[in-house]
Amino acid sequence: MISRRKFIQSAFVCGIGAISVGSYSRIFEPRWIEINNVTIKLRALPRRFEGMTIVQLSDIHHCKYAPREFVRKCIRKVNMLSPDVIALTGDYIYGSNAFLLPVTEELTELKAKEGIFAVLGNHDMKEDTSDALRKAGINLLINEHVPLYRGKDYLFIAGVDDLYKGRMDLVKTLRGTDGKPKILLSHTPDAIETIKQTDVDFVMAGHTHGGQISLPFFGPPVTCSKFGSRYAAGLFREGKTIMYVNKGIGVSGFPVRFFARPEITLFTLTSNSPCVV
Ligand SMILES: [Fe+2]
Repeated sequence: MISRRKFIQSAFVCGIGAISVGSYSRIFEPRWIEINNVTIKLRALPRRFEGMTIVQLSDIHHCKYAPREFVRKCIRKVNMLSPDVIALTGDYIYGSNAFLLPVTEELTELKAKEGIFAVLGNHDMKEDTSDALRKAGINLLINEHVPLYRGKDYLFIAGVDDLYKGRMDLVKTLRGTDGKPKILLSHTPDAIETIKQTDVDFVMAGHTHGGQISLPFFGPPVTCSKFGSRYAAGLFREGKTIMYVNKGIGVSGFPVRFFARPEITLFTLTSNSPCVV
């Protein structure tokens, strides 16, 4: 039988452990940004795009839990990576639309050599967010694509409306791009179910926040994806399509992160060709 003294000691240790985990996941990890370097091999990558860099920033969710100073710090980190292209994959605010103006003011500081492209997420009010992003000089893609040229070479950057809150129209998005190299922005990775039936080469998605809480050896118990933890975070291949799911910057629901650090991703595109000039 456990003595009274041992019981008090055990309860004390458990209490300290719970407070430590709580403080870590509430205060420390949500501000502990990781920068992931990911090389994406695209067989159809035009020669002049070899080595092109794209930085993905997702799910900023500006609110009191992801304050303006934190957003500014993330944007400074993105600019320090000196990317060719920046991709924003939705969910700029959380809770109130009052956070839209400050977050878009911060987004105007983003610098990319060849363009900043964005899609909307399920937390974004379509009209207001579209206006604000466009005023910030960002190319918002709602079921549309644009060509990106390097000399005579080009690839398409496409973006779909959100699968759940918007009206995703993949046919319209990709019309006229058959057989050409293309990169697609989609807020939710769940859209891969449809995207994998097309010839999209590379998809950048967000939405899941990596589950926000991820248990060692188990992964995230809960995600906001209909596929559960399958596409919670990281790199996937579905058919000929490669998809990367970024864990995002901010939080939604509970303001905690545990083994699901906020993420900025730096992609470098390369060709599968063994002889790249
Ligand atoms: Fe989100």
